[in-house]
Amino acid sequence: MKKVIHIVGARPNFMKVAPIHRAISARGSLQQLVIHTGQHYDAKMSDVFFADLGLPPPEIHLGIGSGSHAEQTAKMMVEMEKVFLQEKPDLVSVVGDVNSTIAAALVTSKLAIPLSHVEAGLRSFERHQPEEINRVVTDRLSDLLLTPSRDADANLLKEGIDPKHIHLVGNVMIDSLLSSKEKADQLPTLKTLGLTPKGYVVATLHRPSNVDNPKLLAGLLGVLMDVAKQLPVVFPVHPRTRKMISEQGLGPKLEQTPGLKLVDPMGYLEFLSVTSQAKLVMTDSGGLQEETTALNVPCLTMREQTERPITVEVGSNEVVGTDPARIREAANRVLAGDFKKGRVPELWDGRTGERIADLYARFLGVAETKRAFG
Ligand code: UD1
Repeated sequence: MKKVIHIVGARPNFMKVAPIHRAISARGSLQQLVIHTGQHYDAKMSDVFFADLGLPPPEIHLGIGSGSHAEQTAKMMVEMEKVFLQEKPDLVSVVGDVNSTIAAALVTSKLAIPLSHVEAGLRSFERHQPEEINRVVTDRLSDLLLTPSRDADANLLKEGIDPKHIHLVGNVMIDSLLSSKEKADQLPTLKTLGLTPKGYVVATLHRPSNVDNPKLLAGLLGVLMDVAKQLPVVFPVHPRTRKMISEQGLGPKLEQTPGLKLVDPMGYLEFLSVTSQAKLVMTDSGGLQEETTALNVPCLTMREQTERPITVEVGSNEVVGTDPARIREAANRVLAGDFKKGRVPELWDGRTGERIADLYARFLGVAETKRAFG
């Protein structure tokens, strides 16, 4: 049987791999293995997602952990090479734009193993952003480039990628969202946090460009404290952000702000239960821009650019930059009821995992019984 290896490592990977894994399992015509690099290792950043998404525990765990970019990526590469030489996969499937993605892409292509990149073609055009470097290199090395939207196809074509390698499959993360929504809706999270539907804001911040800069971080947290004067703000704090808040001595001020609820990182279902009923989401995350678009919840993205322009052109997202005055003004507007109503982009339909499974079967020359694509 032909063998596919999936690589996961960081929190935003799990909800992308789960639907592909499930669709391949349902077909039963390919063998598959999940390798976890260990880039994220806290239970709240990793383990809980496997349980929430019904993704079986990884067959292989490399246990790499944190480090500088070079250190982390290099360690992953050394360990992955050993596993690939032993397991001899016919295809390696990577998702997103994290360091685990680029590490796997480099090892796979040097071993002349076919490489598939799910979420290909996204570009922020910010070359200093670590994820942008990971995206550009991974796409360059991939044999299959699976895109979530037509803007991604256009970016790849502009970079000279042969169109025969590009496949518009839709947004796989939305498969996880749609299949989990009912379960998330049944959780008592709002009650536990003392919130009412559409009566609160959700905030997340973790981009190094925002949180590693003390002045910028203080400005952004200042906006959240102001917003909390109007409506409660739920703020699940990423470990990187938690560390910076503590180093800057900002913890006590935040903890003492009535209405601002700093909580630990949430599991997938728990987080979905709060984002889906929020009045507003304020974030610098990539994935959350897409999830709010699928949920049609207003989103203010606290960055200068987005690699996901479809969430702005079609969805409910607005890119508001990092100037506190501008963010405050936008938040006030949304809270006063003035916000754009988005639509759901094409092929964000919950069937992307099936289309990918079909594509892999065809690519590997495996006869298919069920077809969802082409
Ligand atoms: C990574 C991804 C980013 C993604 C984010 C989601 C890269 C380059 N960045 O950023 O694209 O949006 O994941 O969270 O791959 N830490 C813990 N526990 C953990 C993991 C990390 O405490 O389980 C702390 C460590 O101090 C670590 C820091 O967080 O040094 C940063 O972790 P790292 O994986 O390097 O990057 P993220 O900021 O999480």
